[in-house]
Amino acid sequence: MARLVIFGAGDIARLAHHYFKTDSPHEVAAFVVDREFKTTDIFDGLPLCATDELVARYPPSDYSAFVAVSYARMNRLRQEKYEAMKAAGYQCVSYVSSRCTYLSTTPPGDNCLILEDNTIQPFVTIGNNVTLWSGNHIGHDSTIEDHCFIASHVVVSGHVRVGAGSFIGVNATLRNSITIGPQTLIAAGALVMKDTAAGGVYFQERAKRAPQSSDEIDL
Ligand SMILES: CC(C)(COP(=O)(O)OP(=O)(O)OC[C@H]1O[C@@H](n2cnc3c(N)ncnc32)[C@H](O)[C@@H]1OP(=O)(O)O)[C@@H](O)C(=O)NCCC(=O)NCCS
Repeated sequence: MARLVIFGAGDIARLAHHYFKTDSPHEVAAFVVDREFKTTDIFDGLPLCATDELVARYPPSDYSAFVAVSYARMNRLRQEKYEAMKAAGYQCVSYVSSRCTYLSTTPPGDNCLILEDNTIQPFVTIGNNVTLWSGNHIGHDSTIEDHCFIASHVVVSGHVRVGAGSFIGVNATLRNSITIGPQTLIAAGALVMKDTAAGGVYFQERAKRAPQSSDEIDL
């Protein structure tokens, strides 16, 4: 069991607190944000401190950390805060829901948030600082690199590599054996059938000969 400090004071921090409190051996002691974002002394019933006082009040020898911020700037904010906490000497812990089906024998990296109803198949590798919101399927032999954020009900088929810092929107589907370049943004509901370029944005492609009206379809 670790005593934890959560970086962040927004929805994701509040949810991370809930998950750690109700479904982990860890105890959350406080929240921390950069001083310019500290508008109160209490967040979600716990002390809220500024980063410039963190080490003195909650030293890394006694506390671990969890960075719980959004995917802003294509996950670069999450990456920066994660790296800053590690540089300050904190060990970052991961949360894996007891309601996740985790069948890979390789544990996820640190600072991961893996919520309920994810299916992680055998031989999957999950890097550091990865968020898998609820209900995704990560197919066998796939790799999710560091700092990725995968929203809900995404299907990552087998033998897929998702490059670092990518964001995959709700209900997207990735076919098997493709490589998603680093910092790819896959829009909600997109079907991705080929490799993607680093930094690209991918939407659902409309079928070339799609009917314009449901009356044109003989169901
Ligand atoms: C890709 C995305 C980031 C683009 O956001 P945006 O820049 O704010 O785009 P907008 O919502 O202004 O939409 C711009 C246009 O693209 C279209 N569009 C947006 N997202 C789309 C999608 N997923 N599929 C198809 N078309 C889409 C919009 O209809 C709009 O078209 P229009 O100009 O003809 O009306 C966003 O649509 C998306 O998919 N976000 C992910 C949502 C998600 O998964 N949330 C879960 C978070 S936990």
